[in-house]
Amino acid sequence: MSHSIALNFEDGVTRFVETRPGETVADASYRLGINIPLDCRDGACGTCRCRVESGDYDGGSYIEDALTEEEAAQGFALACQMRPRSDLVVAIPASSAACKTRAQAFEATLEEVTRLSDSSIAFSVSAPPGLSFLPGQYVNLRVPGTEQHRSYSFSSAPGAARLSFLVRDIPNGLMSGWLRAAQPGAAMQFTGPSGSFYLRPLQRPVLMLAGGTGLAPFLSMLGLLQAGGGPAHPVHLVYGVTNDADLVGLEELERLAAAMPGFTFSTCVAAEGSAHPRKGYVTAHVAPAQLNGGEVDVYLCGPPPMVDAVRAWLSREGVTPANFFHEKFSPSGAGQAEAA
Ligand SMILES: Cc1cc2nc3c(=O)[nH]c(=O)nc-3n(C[C@H](O)[C@H](O)[C@H](O)COP(=O)(O)OP(=O)(O)OC[C@H]3O[C@@H](n4cnc5c(N)ncnc54)[C@H](O)[C@@H]3O)c2cc1C
Ligand code: FES
Repeated sequence: MSHSIALNFEDGVTRFVETRPGETVADASYRLGINIPLDCRDGACGTCRCRVESGDYDGGSYIEDALTEEEAAQGFALACQMRPRSDLVVAIPASSAACKTRAQAFEATLEEVTRLSDSSIAFSVSAPPGLSFLPGQYVNLRVPGTEQHRSYSFSSAPGAARLSFLVRDIPNGLMSGWLRAAQPGAAMQFTGPSGSFYLRPLQRPVLMLAGGTGLAPFLSMLGLLQAGGGPAHPVHLVYGVTNDADLVGLEELERLAAAMPGFTFSTCVAAEGSAHPRKGYVTAHVAPAQLNGGEVDVYLCGPPPMVDAVRAWLSREGVTPANFFHEKFSPSGAGQAEAA
């Protein structure tokens, strides 16, 4: 049986390769011209050691010098030996350039642009053949008619016929301005997928914290969870915005909560004059039980000041989550996903 392997490089680029039945991850990668670190090809040197983030595999045979028992127990494997038993996500300890590859380029057609509020626009494009991504990842989209690029996270789940995005309408913003006048049928170009901010297999409760259009990657993650029959552990989302008009996507969140008993969410608005029942920042609306004494995976996405504020708040609360993944929607367009 063939399996899809997501190779995540250190620079945030992800390439997907399909293994043939019985093929190792290294052989499949080289067949497609992706030169991941490799030397002996025999399980002896450890050059091809990588970390498997999700999926099942047969680790093959190797000597202790190449991979210790402890490393294998921690999820490390040898790409030259491992044969997948399911789709895998594998972190490669090298940059995409060092492996003679880079993010793939795609062309798509703008299908729909919808103004959701004064401050938010949703748009979708046709899904080009050959594009795979992990829920939470983003692409670098060329602003049509320019040589400028902007990063946008998918709000649609992997496998959907259309790729959807949720964008804050920035006055004087280049991409924002283009979207305001955009018509379906326009040609779009992007490279990707990129980013290490993606949903890992659920091993404990999950707390999602979204700021503004930082909701987008969570919609993608939740869509995938729903397609998989719902989360195996409780998932709670706190979605905060600055002004009442920024609160969008509520119907979709309500639909997801109704479809998945394990998923709950709440919203809040920071502006003083807001009519919303819950005011303030997301951190004011996380119940202690949702931090579960640190036995929780926290995912956070929003503008850079929010990410910094949540980090400081966790530290003040004395809570160290089992995993803390975050992505800053920095205006520069440079991807800044990190795990700590
Ligand atoms: C990894 C990653 C993923 C991202 N995903 C998304 C996403 O899914 N949805 C989304 O809406 N954005 C996302 N962003 C931000 C996005 O890439 C753009 O920066 C943003 O949409 C502004 O682009 P623009 O061309 O409209 O404005 P620009 O032409 O880039 O900016 C015009 C002016 O507005 C300022 N500005 C830019 N952004 C803001 C802001 N948020 N608040 C105040 N001033 C600002 C700029 O500094 C500049 O002065 C992401 C960023 C990163 C790094
Ligand atoms: S290349 Fe030497 S152990 Fe895999």
